[in-house]
Amino acid sequence: MTRLTRADLDALPAYVAGRNVADVARELGLAEAIKLASNEVPFGPLPGVAEAIAEAVTQSHRYPDAGSVALRDKLAGWLDVDADRIVTGGGSVALAEHLVKATCLPGDEVVYSWRSFEAYPIIAAGVGATSVRVPNTAAHGHDLPAMAGAITDRTRLVIVCNPNNPTGTSSRKDELDRFLDAVPDDTLVVLDEAYREFVTDADVPDGLRAYGDRPNVVVLRTLSKAWGLAGLRVGYLVAQPEVAGAIRKVLTPFSTSMVAQAAALAALDQEAEVRRRCAIVVDERARVTEAIRKIFPDVPSSQSNFVWLPLGDRAAAFGAACEQRGVIVRPFQGDGVRVTIGTPEENDTFLAVAEKAAI
Ligand SMILES: Cc1ncc(COP(=O)(O)O)c(C=O)c1O
Repeated sequence: MTRLTRADLDALPAYVAGRNVADVARELGLAEAIKLASNEVPFGPLPGVAEAIAEAVTQSHRYPDAGSVALRDKLAGWLDVDADRIVTGGGSVALAEHLVKATCLPGDEVVYSWRSFEAYPIIAAGVGATSVRVPNTAAHGHDLPAMAGAITDRTRLVIVCNPNNPTGTSSRKDELDRFLDAVPDDTLVVLDEAYREFVTDADVPDGLRAYGDRPNVVVLRTLSKAWGLAGLRVGYLVAQPEVAGAIRKVLTPFSTSMVAQAAALAALDQEAEVRRRCAIVVDERARVTEAIRKIFPDVPSSQSNFVWLPLGDRAAAFGAACEQRGVIVRPFQGDGVRVTIGTPEENDTFLAVAEKAAI
């Protein structure tokens, strides 16, 4: 048969989304299953969001504002940066894709830690860029000196995931300072801070506050996690105006939908509620970490809304054993299992299931 698509994509693993709760429950004949696989926050939409969506939908025969002007203005005020430094997109993963598109030609290199967010290899390969994966440290964090050392004159982009998905570990200010000082001026660094709102360690910097003024730093954030808008797809990045301008050129036009923009505007009015919800997640994170360490003592401390069980080759079996008992977690065979922090009741169920699944 005639080959119609790129041969190099054959070797690329497809993105694995968390399994659907209803499908799993049906397969197992259970009344319900619990999904702790996609790092969502379990509390439902923020107050006012559903109403804003209902209102926005009445205009859904129109295209959205391509420039997301109102949303960018609101973010600019809230973040205290100029609006021309902000780009919004259909989820921060889409923005990461646009960043790679705006920086890399085929054969250029993208450096990132591994294991990290599973979309990175996919988006690098999308433009024919070469992924340079720097192994995580024994403590499951980024090896920033090794990442700096991996930069060559072909490197166009370095991604620092802080906190790191799926290990929950985070890089601290002193090591980030040294790392950023070592990166050449003509290499762009993306600080992917999808889980920033869950950080409680005072030594883990807010990338925007600490490094946002560096010309080669881009801070990537999302409204999917703490802000509860995963289903609507809205993320943003903050870069220097020239970088932001270049990224805007490669955006899929209208990719932040009208409904997503309206929902994001409403969500951003709810900062106090977001903080309240994050505090619940953080308390539960501490409780789950302490309890799960009785089964798996090597669980690293997490600064995000999930915990990492470094089970290596036992990951898939543990994941399957949890799923058999109605709890969907996210195994990465050979490395470990990521478990999202849910409601206290969901976490209790997971802990009970984990004890049985670990046998
Ligand atoms: C580190 C990291 N970055 C980006 C994303 C993408 O989030 P979204 O596209 O929903 O904004 C995720 C989602 O899981 C993530 O873990």
